[in-house]
Amino acid sequence: MFKDFKLIAGRPVYIQVKDYMKSLILRGALQGEQKLPSTRELSLLLKVSRNSVISAYTALEDDGFAYTVQGQGSYVAPAAASDSTAASAWTMDWKTRLSSRALLAEELDIMKRGIRAGKGTISFTSIAPDESLFDLDNVKRAFLDRMSVEGNVLLNYGYAKGYKPLIDYLRQYMEHKGVDMRGKDMLITNGFTEGFDIVLSALGQRHGAVLCENPTHHTALKNLRLNGFDIRGVAMEPDGIHLGELKRALEEGEYDCAYFVPSYHNPTGIVMSPEKRQGLMKLMAEYRVPVIEDGFNEELRYSGSHVAPLIAAAGSGNGVVYLGSFSKVLFPGLRVGWVLADQELIYYLESVKRARSIHTSTLDQSILYQYLLGGHLEKYLKRARTEYKRKYELTMACCKEWLPYSRISGDGGLHLFVTFPEGFSTRELLAACREQGVIFTAGDIFFTDGTGQHTLRLGFSRVADEDIRRGIEIIGRTARQLLG
Ligand SMILES: Cc1ncc(COP(=O)(O)O)c(C=O)c1O
Repeated sequence: MFKDFKLIAGRPVYIQVKDYMKSLILRGALQGEQKLPSTRELSLLLKVSRNSVISAYTALEDDGFAYTVQGQGSYVAPAAASDSTAASAWTMDWKTRLSSRALLAEELDIMKRGIRAGKGTISFTSIAPDESLFDLDNVKRAFLDRMSVEGNVLLNYGYAKGYKPLIDYLRQYMEHKGVDMRGKDMLITNGFTEGFDIVLSALGQRHGAVLCENPTHHTALKNLRLNGFDIRGVAMEPDGIHLGELKRALEEGEYDCAYFVPSYHNPTGIVMSPEKRQGLMKLMAEYRVPVIEDGFNEELRYSGSHVAPLIAAAGSGNGVVYLGSFSKVLFPGLRVGWVLADQELIYYLESVKRARSIHTSTLDQSILYQYLLGGHLEKYLKRARTEYKRKYELTMACCKEWLPYSRISGDGGLHLFVTFPEGFSTRELLAACREQGVIFTAGDIFFTDGTGQHTLRLGFSRVADEDIRRGIEIIGRTARQLLG
């Protein structure tokens, strides 16, 4: 005993001694009423100061794990020692206790199934921002400034709807996008993903079906399935969803809602044209199907003019639920997104959010607010856009030079989507490229109907220029070999 004690740097020694002794008691290595080594003995055995052992024994007593008998020494408290015949020997087969939702979540978890990038691998799988672009100094300043203004309050419970200054800021932000804010309200969420799940869980399933673009964001598909919806995907054209097919789908079925990503759609990167947005809104209003709009990437525009979100086209109407997120535009680690929708709907979503997680971290929200208030978003975006545009153009040029593609799409954002000739398998391509140290995302995971085997997504935001060139050349050479 006492031979496996190892000190780690940066943590008070007496706490480490206390935790170590506690673990021996809990494991049953030290029994109830057993006498503990004297402080001198233990300090020699563990090679720590006697003072550390004295403090550790006092802390063990405070926690109810030991007691002292005057003039005799310290003993293990009987109630704290483990009883190996009862609770500590009780094991469960948790898999048999899981809900079908948990089992499905695991089955759909591509982070567990997907290919991991080994050291030296050129990976085009990520569409996260490049953290080397983050202006850390302004984030640090935002944190310190906000803490000095509000301090303790930020560490206490906040409001389920969100941090009021941030909500006010984002309301204005959305107004500048052309949204008629009358009759609308906002809920802050842990990114788009939680907002989407909250909205889906709050919707009554009258038909149990949803409409969306085909292909679409994999996480959204996963959440739709986890919420028990049947999914009807509608094909896309180079300027967005196929309106004819959308109309047919609306004629053929009934839907609880529709999920659309009109700008820098994931995975195709397509920006829906203003005409299509008008057409789509007209159809959705005609068939009275609520729209969930994913506005996650709107700011990553490299050319052309701003296209207003669907919720702006809805005017004073309340049929669109807009989900916003700065995960690509700023920092995904600050899990802050927002739902902008009809105020009565938000009233209920607020209660769902409160029941689920009470509220989104006030610290995260307040840092984001102070950062935005300081005008840093605009400056950061200018820099990030320049860099991403350069990478976007490089990736596009390399794809055009090397890949035997049928179509490449991507009007901006952090990725391109490549379609190969029919019958080609990007899963086979991926396996062959992986052998050569290059990976990407096979496109089939984004499709609602099991198709898309001849497509792939290339995320370029975190890949170095030289690796973009080398990686796409390898993908191209390998694809040509497979095509024969
Ligand atoms: C289509 C789409 N919407 C939203 C998000 C952002 O999600 P979150 O805000 O939860 O990070 C992503 C991230 O990849 C996305 O691809």
